Amino acid sequence: DKTFRIAPSILSANFAKLGQEIEDVITSGTDIVHFDVMDNHYVPNLTIGPLVCDAIRETAKKVGALIDVHLMVKPVDRIIPDFAKAGANIITFHPEASEHIDRSLAMVRDLGCKSGLVFNPATSLSYLDHVMDKVDMILLMSVNPGFGGQKFIPETLEKLKLARARIDAYYEKTGRQIWLEVDGGVNAQNIAEIARAGADTFVAGSAIFGSPKDTDANRYNTVVSEM
Ligand code: DX5
Ligand code: ZN
Repeated sequence: DKTFRIAPSILSANFAKLGQEIEDVITSGTDIVHFDVMDNHYVPNLTIGPLVCDAIRETAKKVGALIDVHLMVKPVDRIIPDFAKAGANIITFHPEASEHIDRSLAMVRDLGCKSGLVFNPATSLSYLDHVMDKVDMILLMSVNPGFGGQKFIPETLEKLKLARARIDAYYEKTGRQIWLEVDGGVNAQNIAEIARAGADTFVAGSAIFGSPKDTDANRYNTVVSEM
């Protein structure tokens, strides 16, 4: 499938007017609200939780955007139901942060959400070996998780090709399409190369929200159209 999706990471948005930011960025041509959850334990930063997810769900629905919850939290199982209740459409977690990966993936699905695994730059894709049937999205980190505004790690391009090969082989076998998302340091300059390596879903935080501001609701149009 040749569909590309852009997922603005609201980590870099203006939290004082988060609803408006989401409305503006989605109507500028993006598709998915990427929602970064950090716990100051699995990663050295603290961000937002289910309360904020619940607060944006109506806005996301109104503009037709999925909410993509990226859990950088350990342990993961306790918080998964809270995000499902708070309106998450996709929930991804890091395999190192789950005691029982298969169970956590199944839990996400059972709660009605799409499930995904997230791979840090140095984490092996072999975690996928026995769980492909329970995965709807594979997220490759192209920076070490914890902060927006970092530089894209170029080794990710080779890893994306490996993940794309797994996804395509799985599609041949089952006819089921798994999304391949990339997160960290994505911008208008490198996004084409990242797409050629196999990604179909692109998280971008600082590149979108830190972009030169035009006026009002249209201020993200320029950077989004360059992507
Ligand atoms: C990093 C987060 C990313 C981050 C991306 O741990 O998972 O989603 O917000 O920000 P940029 O696009 O600025 O690298
Ligand atoms: Zn993220």
